[in-house]
Amino acid sequence: MSVVSSPQLRAQLLREQLNHHAYLYYILDQPALPDAEYDRLFRELEALEAQHPELRTADSPTQRVLGKVLDGFAPVRHTVPMLSIRTETDTEASGAEHFDARVRRELELSSAAAPVEYACELKFDGLAINLRYEHGVLVQAATRGDGETGEDVTQNIRTIRQIPLRLQNVSAPVLEVRGEVYMRRDEFEQLNARQRELIAAGHKNEKTFVNPRNAAAGAVRQLDSSIAARRPLSFFAYGLGDVQGWDVPPTHSGVLDALAEMGLPVCVERAVVKGATGLIEFHQRIGNQRDALPFDIDGVVYKVNSLALQQRLGFVTREPRWAVAHKYPAQEQITRVLDIDIQVGRTGKLTPVAKLEPVFVGGTTVSNATLHNEDETRRKDVRVGDRVIVRRAGDVIPEVVSVVADQVNQVDQVTAVGKRSAPFDLFKQLNGHCPVCGSDIAREMGEADWRCTGGLYCSAQRKQAILHFAGRRAMDIEGLGDKLVDQLVDSDRVKTLADLYTLDVATLMQLERMGEKSAQNLVDGLNASKKTTLARFLYALGIRQVGEATAKDLAKHFGSLDRILHASVEELLLVNDVGPIVAQSIHVFFAQPHNREVLDALRAAGIHWDEHAGSNADASPKPLAGKTFVLTGTLPALSRDEAKELIEAAGGKVSGSVSKKTHYVVAGAEAGSKLQKAQELGVMIIDESQLQALLSHTT
Ligand code: IVH
Repeated sequence: MSVVSSPQLRAQLLREQLNHHAYLYYILDQPALPDAEYDRLFRELEALEAQHPELRTADSPTQRVLGKVLDGFAPVRHTVPMLSIRTETDTEASGAEHFDARVRRELELSSAAAPVEYACELKFDGLAINLRYEHGVLVQAATRGDGETGEDVTQNIRTIRQIPLRLQNVSAPVLEVRGEVYMRRDEFEQLNARQRELIAAGHKNEKTFVNPRNAAAGAVRQLDSSIAARRPLSFFAYGLGDVQGWDVPPTHSGVLDALAEMGLPVCVERAVVKGATGLIEFHQRIGNQRDALPFDIDGVVYKVNSLALQQRLGFVTREPRWAVAHKYPAQEQITRVLDIDIQVGRTGKLTPVAKLEPVFVGGTTVSNATLHNEDETRRKDVRVGDRVIVRRAGDVIPEVVSVVADQVNQVDQVTAVGKRSAPFDLFKQLNGHCPVCGSDIAREMGEADWRCTGGLYCSAQRKQAILHFAGRRAMDIEGLGDKLVDQLVDSDRVKTLADLYTLDVATLMQLERMGEKSAQNLVDGLNASKKTTLARFLYALGIRQVGEATAKDLAKHFGSLDRILHASVEELLLVNDVGPIVAQSIHVFFAQPHNREVLDALRAAGIHWDEHAGSNADASPKPLAGKTFVLTGTLPALSRDEAKELIEAAGGKVSGSVSKKTHYVVAGAEAGSKLQKAQELGVMIIDESQLQALLSHTT
């Protein structure tokens, strides 16, 4: 290894290495360096810069968070104005046809002329940012403002790890990149969950955010960049601003490809299509995928691909004639709260749920929306009779976001009495008792939730516990749905999980609407579920804090149920990812005599698994260790779950979505968007027989 003696060269080398690894990590999703090693290099650079402040350059990764609190944002005049896009609110195919027809008319194309080529993108729901790079180095970031003048938010934008501080192989004196700062849905949910915990713990100044866009916009306009740095922001580039000294490619799609080459994040969901049919296909394809995307979009954007044609089309006021945003049905709507119900969850958690006047939002009709907990309901001050904004995005449960602002004035026309109902009070509403079993309710210090103290005595908790136990990823009992569970619990035929296995065809046939065939199916399903794995069984028990991953870790670590039953909190803490709260919860669960009785009864009913299978003691070969798989389409012989189990048993991982981190996509019949994504990303695509071959490899 050559020793670099000059601090200047060493600093440059460290900067280049760190920037390169940040690119692999944040843009390509393909980390090549252990985190600890990255941190070591980072600290070395920090130390070097502390000794030699003159070595601290603008593109140094140590300069992302400067910790200076600003008094306000300086205005930035955009060299090239930041335009907006005309919105096509017709969410049907005709919306795309209108745009194409308009473009053809403006270009004076005859009906015989070839179809126009378009670049299709997503319409991200965040806020527009202009990034100014001079000689490849990020020198300024500004908001759109009124399109002419925005605000200098460089400090905050520098904290976004996906935004390169230096572009790869760009020396142009000026290159302005435009794009959208946004927040992923999962990161938004986690942020709000953290905020709710802070509020429950007494942090009065904290609040939850209404939606990812508001959370992102708030973070970008934070005067204290250390706060902005803690908000999980992301970025997609979608265009150019001022450019000097760079040969702009002749098409928009070429521009996007070039931006990706420079190390900027460009969304892979993009396409070049021809004519209105191509636009419609893109709109539909993305519409079907919308819920599965990791971030909110409110539509797609079509842009005439040729920059020469764009120039010919020009603008009307602030909107280009060559672009349009084609919307999807809104993910937020206004409706009225008819009532506030309180639901009892599997662990006794009491959740206020707003009963709504049905409203079409995010593609489905919603009549219930969660209010999360008492504090949230009070903070948002949601009351029966109020007009509220409801949000449903992705697979997340619909929620009440806020009360419509001029509520107090609205109410007069609504309630004859002319005043709003009383503020929400969970304890008062329930008179201190569980709405299902009548047990006392309790809320512990520092906890956000009220809970029913009835445990499995509470039929609501029992029903949820049984449904969880029977779930596909738990004991996988075919034929046990929620209607049947209601009947079994309400008729007192099933009081504990073990009672399930005492059901026979004759007993089941006494239930309403239960024929012999369904009864037999359920009995068969119950029998089939008896052979399982320790991990599934542990997960099925529904121990608080023990999800699927923890159950697998426990099974692997201990190898047998008895060893887990007798484990101390200290011993539990030795398991991968098990912290004090989880260890305590497991320990308490197994210390309860009634839980031990249920376990014994379940084992007596014949539930079994191979002890030690998959445990640490297990020396079976792991040919797929470290490899990530995504399954798509229908495989000829294996079911999804079977394929997943085989891959995991061989040490591999199965993920739900394709990224550059994916090693293999296993594709079967009618594989859809995941296959396409794999092709776009150049991920290896294999079929079932190739998977079998990988599995049988023993080295
Ligand atoms: S292009 C000339 N592309 O939509 C067109 N904008 O009204 C300039 N937006 O606030 C914008 N996704 O931030 C463009 N793929 C996309 C976009 C996009 C979202 C936002 C943009 C601006 C608004 C334009």
